Amino acid sequence: MTNTKKSIHGEWSSRSAFILAATGSAVGLGNIWKFPYITGENGGGAFVIVYLLCVALIGIPIMIAETMLGRRGRENPVHTMQVLSAEADADKRWHYLGWLGMAAGLLILSYYSVIAGWASAYVFKAFSGSFFGADVTAVEQLFSDFVGNPMQLIFWHTLFMVATMLIVARGVGDGLEKSVRILMPGLFILLALLVMYAMTTSGYFQGIHFLFSLDFNKLTGNAILIAMGQAFFSLGLGMGCVMVYGAYLPKNISIAKASIVIAAVDSLVALLAGIIIFPIVFTYGLNPGSGPGLIFETLPIAFGSMTGGWLFGVLFFVILVFAALSSAIALIEPTVCWLVESKGITRGLACLQSGVVTWLLGFCTIFSFNIWSDVKIFDHTLFEALDYLTANVMLPVGGFAIAVFAGWMMKQQHSAQELDIPSQHYQIWLFLIKYMAPAAVFLVFLHVMGVL
Ligand code: TRP
Repeated sequence: MTNTKKSIHGEWSSRSAFILAATGSAVGLGNIWKFPYITGENGGGAFVIVYLLCVALIGIPIMIAETMLGRRGRENPVHTMQVLSAEADADKRWHYLGWLGMAAGLLILSYYSVIAGWASAYVFKAFSGSFFGADVTAVEQLFSDFVGNPMQLIFWHTLFMVATMLIVARGVGDGLEKSVRILMPGLFILLALLVMYAMTTSGYFQGIHFLFSLDFNKLTGNAILIAMGQAFFSLGLGMGCVMVYGAYLPKNISIAKASIVIAAVDSLVALLAGIIIFPIVFTYGLNPGSGPGLIFETLPIAFGSMTGGWLFGVLFFVILVFAALSSAIALIEPTVCWLVESKGITRGLACLQSGVVTWLLGFCTIFSFNIWSDVKIFDHTLFEALDYLTANVMLPVGGFAIAVFAGWMMKQQHSAQELDIPSQHYQIWLFLIKYMAPAAVFLVFLHVMGVL
């Protein structure tokens, strides 16, 4: 039997459109904002290696599995899991995986949008020349004044959520596909320029050393979990994003090849961001572990001191906002897709409903940087707790379930048919998805809980 069902939302127009959109979902704040600051907080090199291992051994196989489940089910994550578990004679409760994913997506978007709002505000700061000749203290002051002001953060968060909802409301072809065609090449050009700048700084080698030297003493159990969580976050796995993007994928496209390309581009962008940021950190004596403000406290110095920095600063933050937009639309798409398919409402209304919920949730993050900065859950601010819960718990649990379903529940004849790759390659994937990925996620959890 061949599966000829199509998604009611339409399909990607070509292989390159899918790769672009999936890369757009993968490349975002996770690469440029989050990767550098958590690498800084977790000691550098050894963390980076663990991260890359997680991408290769857990991330890529799960990405292939998640896309495959989506393309076979062709619906929102909840229905897809219902259809596929029926087909596999598996327990019906597998569809809870879809719910977990949608919840994770909205929670992540609630803080993602706040940070994307920071990037949007920085476009205007760059434009108005605020970075010109600014030294470390000035840049740090600028940042702490900014995040200390809830009204400003609310304004930018609102703007970003509205933009996200407007794009998603326009649908798969028009909204999602078009926005990434111009952005990705632009992002690469600007990153290359900034790498060249970083090479001229006096802290270049120290920065590179920090990023690539292997000091495993600095690696704690929790850091391993964070590296794994970051692999899920950066590839956008474990919550149904990739699954719905797979649902819009035409039959004749190789899922395996596309996944490898996407993961490679994603990791490259993260490493480039590190290669840009750490040399600046060491040149100006900043603290690599200063947290979520890291790129907002380092890059402005670069833009403020280099020739043409005004223009590059504006362009950089514009591109960062667009990269965030192409990820934000992916985060909300599973919920929108589910609302449209199961409640029969229009796409516009579905966007509005899920957008408002996410927007309201975003206030937790906004206030955790100012008026609620003392509110702590186990020593974490609300933002940190949300981030930890989603990236380091919900996504790995979702990814684990996807691996178990694809490797153990689904009939091999079906997965082989969907993937359509040479049998040796299929065997490698099967080994990774059946044993490697679930075992790795499980062991990391045991390790963090102190059992191992
Ligand atoms: N991967 C994106 C980034 O790195 C964010 C993102 C998109 C995401 N889809 C996701 C994160 C799904 C977790 C799950 O910025």
